[in-house]
Amino acid sequence: MKFFIDTANLAQIKEAQALGVLDGVTTNPSLMAKEGITGKDSILKHYVDICNLVDGDVSAEVNALDFDGMVREGEELAELHEQIVVKLPMTKEGVMAAKYFSDRGVKTNVTLVFSAGQAILAAKAGATYLSPFIGRIDDSSWDGIELIAQISHIYNVQGFKTEILAASIRNALHIVRCAEAGADVCTCPLDS
Ligand code: E4P
Repeated sequence: MKFFIDTANLAQIKEAQALGVLDGVTTNPSLMAKEGITGKDSILKHYVDICNLVDGDVSAEVNALDFDGMVREGEELAELHEQIVVKLPMTKEGVMAAKYFSDRGVKTNVTLVFSAGQAILAAKAGATYLSPFIGRIDDSSWDGIELIAQISHIYNVQGFKTEILAASIRNALHIVRCAEAGADVCTCPLDS
């Protein structure tokens, strides 16, 4: 299982990189805002700074909710650096955008996933990564780990290549249980 760090904090990314077990980074608009990074130019520069700190994939999220906007923003993000993965929401238009980018060889991370049906759709669209939100599922009194196990089973049976990127991780037990359940990647804050 690969480890991604879920932050836009450069100091924490450096610390995780120094541990020697970091495989990539995930971010989102809230994590950027938490670091005081606002405004398009600052955000784009920050993504490049992150890419220059790590060797692996760096997920950069689009803000648009419509297909044309996602394509426009995603193309701009993908051009920033070869390590950028375009992060798209699991919506009808997000699935269409995932297919658009997959057809053009651009890596994608379909995020905000809460069901196995959504996981099948994203895989059919050729998503590189699929991000089920474990912590938020647990918050809703379902079992996030059960979902990871279900998606892992489906992807194995069907031969889908999309990697399961367990997100919304809240504690160390989540990480261990995601590894048991078949997650390909776990993204977590440094203190998990
Ligand atoms: C993953 O890519 C997301 O940035 C993150 O895990 C969201 O988790 P949250 O539930 O802590 O917002």
